[in-house]
Amino acid sequence: MKTDDAVLQSLRRERTRFISGEDLARELGVTRAAVWKAIEGLRKLGYDIAAHPNAGYRLDGVPDRLYADEITHGLDTEYMGLSVHAYESCDSTNDTAWNLAQQNASEGTLIVAEKQMKGKGRLGRTWSSPAGKNLLFSVILRPKLAPDALGRLTLVAGISLVRAVREELGVPVGIKWPNDIVHKDKKIGGILTEMSADADRVRFCIVGIGLNLNSDPESLPEGAMSLKKLSGKAVPRAKFLQVFLRAFEKDYETLKAGRFDLLADDWRQFSETIGRRITAQMPDRQIEGQAVDIDVQGCLWVRRDNGLQEKILSGDIRHLRPAHA
Ligand code: BTN
Repeated sequence: MKTDDAVLQSLRRERTRFISGEDLARELGVTRAAVWKAIEGLRKLGYDIAAHPNAGYRLDGVPDRLYADEITHGLDTEYMGLSVHAYESCDSTNDTAWNLAQQNASEGTLIVAEKQMKGKGRLGRTWSSPAGKNLLFSVILRPKLAPDALGRLTLVAGISLVRAVREELGVPVGIKWPNDIVHKDKKIGGILTEMSADADRVRFCIVGIGLNLNSDPESLPEGAMSLKKLSGKAVPRAKFLQVFLRAFEKDYETLKAGRFDLLADDWRQFSETIGRRITAQMPDRQIEGQAVDIDVQGCLWVRRDNGLQEKILSGDIRHLRPAHA
């Protein structure tokens, strides 16, 4: 372990107490000068470390940065997010994850970036987000499922995101089918799931998530919303990510155990789409009607005005009437 990391670990352990440079040096088997250098290095990264001539050092605050250590420290999952690749900037965390998955990165590996140069959205769109404010991350999964499970997996990630937001921030966000995280029809987050598969077997899946946590209200494009604006306070990003990873591991295990039915019930509860009048853009045409339910595949069923029901496999829908008058 690098001295900086080891010093940080010791400071975290001591919490609100001071620990002397001498004790740190002895504990870590390094010189006091090396301890000082590590403290300076950590301060440059944004850690708030108090120094007292007699008492030593104390960790007073951690930066709101997505360092691997901030994400894994105290994360009590079995595998989700325990291996972290953190970047200041990358083209797309989904693309980086794809490359790592091809090099055998393990299930649950997390790729996170402060900024993306070529962030990808669904249906060939782009995803842009100001640097250092929000969450942009991807998780590598290796489910032993048939390729048609992809739709369900995508819904599951949406469910876990909603759980995390509600649990951590108490903001009643919902899901617009298939998996936009919304509040009163304003978009807060999106999910892009990609898959490498043979005909009958998934090799790996990449679940990529963009979530507007701390975007400043004035920087939000039309139709978008941030959790900071909704909750009135900045959201500590690494802590929020931990809450999501915990929820997602649990929900993903439920999916793998063949109990999508349980998850579908939660999805229905969180849904902003069911019961609404919508239009659905299909590859070859557009239909209008009332969203009725999702099925075991995660497809959306729509009742048209002629009474016939149609199944939407994928694509884009639009909510027609406001949900909240
Ligand atoms: C959508 O609603 O269109 C999906 C947006 C998904 C964006 C995330 S940001 C992290 C990950 N990397 C990407 O390039 N895209 C996803």
